[in-house]
Amino acid sequence: MDHYRVYGNPIQQSKSPIIHNAFAIQTAQSIQYDKQLVKLNEFEHVVKTFILEGGKGANVTAPFKEQACQLCDHLSDRAKLSGAVNTLSFHKGEIFGDNTDGLGLVQDLISHQVKLANKKILLLGAGGAAKGVVYSLLEQKPELLIVANRTVAKAQLIVDQYPHENIKSSSFDDTSKFEFDVIINATSAGLSGESVPIPKQIIKAKTICYDMVYGKALTPFLKMAQELGAAQVIDGLGMLVGQAAESFYIWRNVKPETDNIMRQLRAELS
Ligand code: ATR
Repeated sequence: MDHYRVYGNPIQQSKSPIIHNAFAIQTAQSIQYDKQLVKLNEFEHVVKTFILEGGKGANVTAPFKEQACQLCDHLSDRAKLSGAVNTLSFHKGEIFGDNTDGLGLVQDLISHQVKLANKKILLLGAGGAAKGVVYSLLEQKPELLIVANRTVAKAQLIVDQYPHENIKSSSFDDTSKFEFDVIINATSAGLSGESVPIPKQIIKAKTICYDMVYGKALTPFLKMAQELGAAQVIDGLGMLVGQAAESFYIWRNVKPETDNIMRQLRAELS
């Protein structure tokens, strides 16, 4: 039986074992997948130990995605550009790194009939979560992708990674100079119960708002968007399942179906 695992700190909340074990049953793959809490200074040690024990791969969640990137012998283009890795694969003692967060996000948006090609997209935040999705968003060929952050210099660092004309950084205030079709919250503001301090007028009746975070109740950002009359508000549960499905595909070369586990997780939230 092949062994996989997710690393993070904290990790208790992680739904990845439930998702991957459901995928394994669905696709008749013989795998074991569990979660492990990692002390902040022990990431490299625990990964290398897992490799020696015969582990086949691992998911990486906060705060280790950047460290995971450093640890890899080989990186996919999207992992290299984002500087963050959420999927490790181990082959013959070498570590391969990829980032499936952006694919998970884009697929979830597509499954909600959200169009990205030739659209104007606003990405809020410039931490690990934002970095991980820029590559996949640009692949959808938006007319414009603005990365806005409280600390604008961090947004500019992300923009500098991409030689595209259609990606720019901004302060939150300056986002009012544009009209957006889709606004994606990748800040961690909601985790402390705060909404994002963006100008309220950028959320209009046609705007679709997405929060990478999910929970039982609407996140503060989505609550604000709903109150302002946004066309659609979508939380990040589908992105979570989507990125897991892409990791599973990398490891097992089988694409799992995601509707059933989505329904199960959504029901467990309510
Ligand atoms: P993650 O891995 O979740 O992205 P992170 O790398 O710590 O976590 O990044 C957190 C992001 O949320 C950053 O963009 C941060 O803004 P700064 O770069 O200016 O710190 C943003 N953020 C966190 N709390 C916020 C708040 N209350 N208002 C606005 N942005 C916030």
